[in-house]
Amino acid sequence: MQLEGVSRTFPTTRGSREVLRNVDLDVRHGEIVAIVGPSGCGKSTLLRMLGGLDAPTSGSIRVGGAPVTDTDARTAVAFQEPRLLAWRTLAQNVQLGLPRGTRRSARAGADRVRQLLDLVGLAHAADQKPREVSGGMAQRASLARALARNPEVLLLDEPFGALDALTRLRMQDLLLDIHAAQPTTVVLVTHDVEEALFLADRVLLLRSLDATSDTAASAGSIARTIDVPGERPRDRADRALTELRAELLQGLGVDTHHHNNPSEETR
Ligand SMILES: Nc1ncnc2c1ncn2[C@@H]1O[C@H](COP(=O)(O)OP(=O)(O)OP(=O)(O)O)[C@@H](O)[C@H]1O
Ligand SMILES: [Mg+2]
Repeated sequence: MQLEGVSRTFPTTRGSREVLRNVDLDVRHGEIVAIVGPSGCGKSTLLRMLGGLDAPTSGSIRVGGAPVTDTDARTAVAFQEPRLLAWRTLAQNVQLGLPRGTRRSARAGADRVRQLLDLVGLAHAADQKPREVSGGMAQRASLARALARNPEVLLLDEPFGALDALTRLRMQDLLLDIHAAQPTTVVLVTHDVEEALFLADRVLLLRSLDATSDTAASAGSIARTIDVPGERPRDRADRALTELRAELLQGLGVDTHHHNNPSEETR
């Protein structure tokens, strides 16, 4: 996936608001990239453009050499909330993620849906409706629906943000299992610095254009890129990750001295 000089400006009542400027980025096939940054800095906007749900004002976005289009079958997106259809079962919701051609061939489609539900640990809940299951289960169904089309690129916008801490950790492990079994390129937006460091090959720190007064010759909206060391699955208590965590939090403007580090206390 290649982004070249990607900018996005939104029209506003008082003129226009530039959200992203001149973003250059290369993501390797099979890579997991996490994007962190302050609220409103353009993370979701960037992700939407990667998925063809929005278009850059200028610049280009390519996947496997070909430009991204609004109906791109190569990418799948999952959001913070599961966005399932309430009157359909989990299985039917997952089925809606299947590529158009296969959706109607009943046998193959049903097999694939069962396989996907199995993958996310929902085989037992196939016939339940979204309101009958927990938030974590609904989010897993949403992930299964995104995976249904065998996407080359999986785009996740704070996919685990609404979950409790324990479910969140389980979902992170699940994502890594899925990625190991079927290496897709993953771009993950998250507020959770630890999640970013646990999952990603690279963490991009996005900054708000508002926060910078120097509008000339800006290097773009990516303030910093961090290569995360260590093979996955990583040790969550790894010393190197703890140091990167402090660095990232500092980049986000969080004063780390005022925050207790739980992994330090228990060591
Ligand atoms: N369709 C739109 N029209 C006008 N402005 C928009 C539109 N979409 C996003 N924006 C503006 O662009 C900025 C970035 O929004 P975006 O949703 O990308 O931020 P974000 O980094 O995802 O924030 P958060 O962490 O809170 O989800 C915001 O100021 C938002 O108001
Ligand atoms: Mg967002």
